[in-house]
Amino acid sequence: MKKLENKTVFITGGLSGIGFACAIASAREGANIVVADIKSDNGENTMNEIIKINSRAMYVECDVSKFAEVQAAIETTISKFETLDVALNNAGIGGEPNPVGDMTEQAWLKVIGVNLNGVFNCMKHELTYMARQQSGVIVNMSSILGKVGFATSSHYVAAKHGVIGLTQTAALEYATQGIRINAICPGFIDTPLLAKGGITGNDEVKQHIIDLHPMKRLGKSEEIANGFIFLACADSSFMSGTTMEIDGAYLAQ
Ligand SMILES: NC(=O)c1ccc[n+]([C@@H]2O[C@H](COP(=O)([O-])OP(=O)(O)OC[C@H]3O[C@@H](n4cnc5c(N)ncnc54)[C@H](O)[C@@H]3O)[C@@H](O)[C@H]2O)c1
Repeated sequence: MKKLENKTVFITGGLSGIGFACAIASAREGANIVVADIKSDNGENTMNEIIKINSRAMYVECDVSKFAEVQAAIETTISKFETLDVALNNAGIGGEPNPVGDMTEQAWLKVIGVNLNGVFNCMKHELTYMARQQSGVIVNMSSILGKVGFATSSHYVAAKHGVIGLTQTAALEYATQGIRINAICPGFIDTPLLAKGGITGNDEVKQHIIDLHPMKRLGKSEEIANGFIFLACADSSFMSGTTMEIDGAYLAQ
């Protein structure tokens, strides 16, 4: 029996990295998939890789920082598949590094807009629908940086801490309505986000980041997808309001 057979899974940021690995894993588990992402040059090829596994997959263009676009994406999902069973609020950006005193307002607002407001926008519209349905699962993508600080990334760290607060609060609000809400806290995962942030393109910086993890390697997107499937399906039926750390023991130090 597949773990998400005929469930509808809505994934933001599903065209790349962790979100894409979660879309592939969901398709393998029999789910209908909706990938919500901002336009990508390679979007069609990426969607085709998901459709090859399960033809019940669609793309909806959506900037998660825009309230109305998220509402429209959720409405499209419901009109296409009739239910919204699982939502993975994963879209995120790295942002320009700087100490707080040198951080521009623009850099701050950009990261908060996508990584924190984006998760609120998604949860607001997902929960409106899931509450009517009296069922659903939400998984939010936080980070190890939702638990501890990281110099020069105050915008990212604040947003990821906020995602955990949102997760815990909504879990309390909907606990008796058949809705579970959890967050994943990945360590550094080898995705295009790290390449864009100048981490994997520079051997010295990459080694420094690897060395921060007791397991002495970066994580793989598929390792996060394994955790996502567990949280999304009935295997985790008594889990809500919690965080799952998949981090090579980063936070154990
Ligand atoms: N890679 C890591 O080391 C790491 C560690 C911890 C947490 N995370 C988190 O995991 C999530 C996914 O990261 P990733 O490493 O796969 O990154 P990625 O850059 O590979 O993928 C991010 C995806 O989000 C999309 N996206 C960006 N802004 C968007 C917006 N405004 N609206 C809709 N889609 C948008 C991008 O187009 C892309 O497809 C992010 O929230 C990130 O903060 C990543």
